[in-house]
Amino acid sequence: MKIGMLTGGGDCPGLNAVIRAVVRKGIFHYQDEIVGFMEGWRGLIDDNTMVLNLDSVSGILPRGGTILRTSRTNPSKRPDGVQRCLAAIEKHKIGALIAIGGDDTLSVAQKLYEAGAKVVGVPKTIDNDLGGTDYTFGFDTACNIVCEAIDRVHTTAEAHNRVMVVEVMGRDAGWIALYSGIAGGADAILIPERRFDVDKVAESIRQRHERGRYFSIVVVAEGAKFAEGKGAPVVQDMGKDEFGHAKLGGIANILAREIEKRTGYETRAVVLGHIQRGGSPSAFDRVLATRYGLGAIDMVHRGEFGRMAALRANKIVSIPLQDAISRNRTVDDEMIEIVDGLFEDIGVKEAASS
Ligand code: F6P
Repeated sequence: MKIGMLTGGGDCPGLNAVIRAVVRKGIFHYQDEIVGFMEGWRGLIDDNTMVLNLDSVSGILPRGGTILRTSRTNPSKRPDGVQRCLAAIEKHKIGALIAIGGDDTLSVAQKLYEAGAKVVGVPKTIDNDLGGTDYTFGFDTACNIVCEAIDRVHTTAEAHNRVMVVEVMGRDAGWIALYSGIAGGADAILIPERRFDVDKVAESIRQRHERGRYFSIVVVAEGAKFAEGKGAPVVQDMGKDEFGHAKLGGIANILAREIEKRTGYETRAVVLGHIQRGGSPSAFDRVLATRYGLGAIDMVHRGEFGRMAALRANKIVSIPLQDAISRNRTVDDEMIEIVDGLFEDIGVKEAASS
């Protein structure tokens, strides 16, 4: 069979591991021919392809980014975009298309499936916010990067008697902040799922310092919201991408200023940004991404279209794409309770409920 493959949305460590697994199993076990569409959905619209064979995937397992490159192109926002995607599938005689992406990429996959294309999805995002799957690949690597950054920030905070506010990605979900904050021993973790009261955050830091500590680490998700902000996140500018997402970012600087004003402690902001998405995938993500790739090519040959490879209770299963894109998987109450147990009146526990 001739199979098309693309990677869409923000890149994340592990994309190349999925590509490699699909190509190797496709060629070794199914005698498939694989063609890559470049830069996400843009590759179908512009008919930009590359041959994927054993040579092209050799040595890519540990590499970050994606050899197929990526973009946030939304065919519905381009003239005849969806029609052009269908035409490219037809032209290249693609028997099945594997779309590796987050909710935006997979919502386009669902649209094409409804229009008759044979599509299988693979869940990708460092944000870990896709429905229907326990973990997306890329998340573990991002948490490891943030955890290491927190460890480094710890020593400089301690040396200078400072409060350090570390801003992490995650869009509307607090998974990266929560996991890396727990792993890095943060003193407060602020996530989008619960608005926070800056007076209470400052007071908790003051009390900690009165108990004898002389530095503190606050981990804040880019999408976290001030209680008094009526639920609006901090944005870099008024721009939006083709899927309508605001460019989040900048909360750490504002928060650092407010904490310093209220406590009198010298406070600095660190914005980790795209460092969280770059570089080599962790061993966990390499294995998970490989399992997803192998799951996806098997689904193609079982004819399970309009579906996504998902991880449930450590098994790769096939679920409807619709289940993955219909809801954003945010941090659940059970997870928040775990963190509440760690802190004495600080962090998410004392954040005002939204
Ligand atoms: O969805 C992944 C993500 O890294 C988010 O955490 C972040 O808000 C966004 O992408 C950043 O997007 P861009 O790469 O377009 O700046």
